[in-house]
Amino acid sequence: MMDVNRWLTVISNRGPYQIKEGSEGLSYEKNGGGLVSVLDEIMRQTGGTWIAWDEKGQSPELVGIPQDGPRYSLRAITLTEQEVNHYYHGFSNRVLWPLSHYFLDRCHFRTEYWDGYKRVNEKFAKAFREAYEDQDRVWIHDFHLTLLPSLLRKERANLSIGFFWHIPFPASPVFRILPWREEILRGLLGSDLIGFHLPLHAEHFLQCVEDVLKIPVDREGGSIQYDGRIIKVNAFPVGIDFRKWDALAYSAPVREKARQIREEMGIKHVLLGVDRLDYTKGILERLLAYERFLEKYPEFHRQVCLIQIAVPSRTRVDEYRSLRREIDEAIGRITGRFSTRKWIPLRYLYQSFAMEDVASYYLAADVALITPLRDGMNLVAKEYVACKREAPGSLILSEFTGAAATLAEAILVNPYNVEGLADTICLALSMPEEEKRRRMKNLRERVRERDVYWWCDSFLKDLSSVRG
Ligand code: F6P
Repeated sequence: MMDVNRWLTVISNRGPYQIKEGSEGLSYEKNGGGLVSVLDEIMRQTGGTWIAWDEKGQSPELVGIPQDGPRYSLRAITLTEQEVNHYYHGFSNRVLWPLSHYFLDRCHFRTEYWDGYKRVNEKFAKAFREAYEDQDRVWIHDFHLTLLPSLLRKERANLSIGFFWHIPFPASPVFRILPWREEILRGLLGSDLIGFHLPLHAEHFLQCVEDVLKIPVDREGGSIQYDGRIIKVNAFPVGIDFRKWDALAYSAPVREKARQIREEMGIKHVLLGVDRLDYTKGILERLLAYERFLEKYPEFHRQVCLIQIAVPSRTRVDEYRSLRREIDEAIGRITGRFSTRKWIPLRYLYQSFAMEDVASYYLAADVALITPLRDGMNLVAKEYVACKREAPGSLILSEFTGAAATLAEAILVNPYNVEGLADTICLALSMPEEEKRRRMKNLRERVRERDVYWWCDSFLKDLSSVRG
């Protein structure tokens, strides 16, 4: 199992808890998101420190987690409004995010964003310096903190530094558009191990290092010699806590909730979409495809309903605000166009849900429509599969997700092909039970084998193998 006896420092933009100091002492509220909650469990085993931005700015600087016998401490970083705007809304979400997902027309290459990003990465480095308690390995997460590995390396030559990039890494001709491409690559090369979800992303990264920095790379071995060190580059497709989702979906309250959802809807076929409201998720294109499906296959009228759950996200960024308006408009048009007194073909839920509620929707659905235009992995696809122990259900999955690389029994689609997606919805609804069962059985095996514990374990073992 995990290298649990060695302390670990995790550094990420978002942390696992919102902690408030009130008259009755500290109160802890878990942050949503599968990954942070799993890393939280890992940290409880390893002990150490987790350094993260405190969005609400209410945490005391350093606290022990959990209350019943702290095994690790949480160090909160507070940012000014301008830092949030430039580092998070700006450089992270209006430069690196769209660039990495191939949305070049949504990139805003502003110098003030870059300056803010550099400042905040330095702030994280300072917090690490202050939190340092004989910890010799650190795991940095995601595109918000690409400069941190080399900032830490400068100070501690022997520190073992792992970095995981959670989104797609773009191909070299796209990455090279970035005005600060060299600084970002040099920042990352402070690491000992750089992880991506897919071998393809690792290849893109190696190619960029060669093209931009003119450093020869070892493609076969997945390594780079830089600054007198060997840096390993490898793929580790992230998984979910399969057992937790499986058990949850099998529990009596979730089964009852799923039964109620179906009973209240009173419909033969339930389609489901679950996404953060983000232009990379292809919600608008999916709605167009569903509209086309309703036009083209009237025999399904009064028999089908699409539940679209959209979790509010990055609501202060312009691109996300306008997307929300466009989605509202499409929902209005489709429901207005096809609804009858007794049938509503589309239900739209713009809100966050607890894990139990999401599991009930997965359980209630006949078909999951997971059709991002580009996605590093997509854990929703894996969660849906984990919840389908008994009633199989079909999975329509975009070929542009990292998940598609391993979930071969899903029905793979090109999300830009509206006509094709409309036909695929019809195909999924008409698929024989036996076929659905066979596909789901294999999908479940894959998701079970490569769960999030496997992911953590493989990454940390590889990190130890680089530096011991
Ligand atoms: O998947 C990439 C990622 O940035 C995660 O790190 C994060 O949890 C998720 O997207 C949601 O984004 P945000 O933290 O900006 O709400």
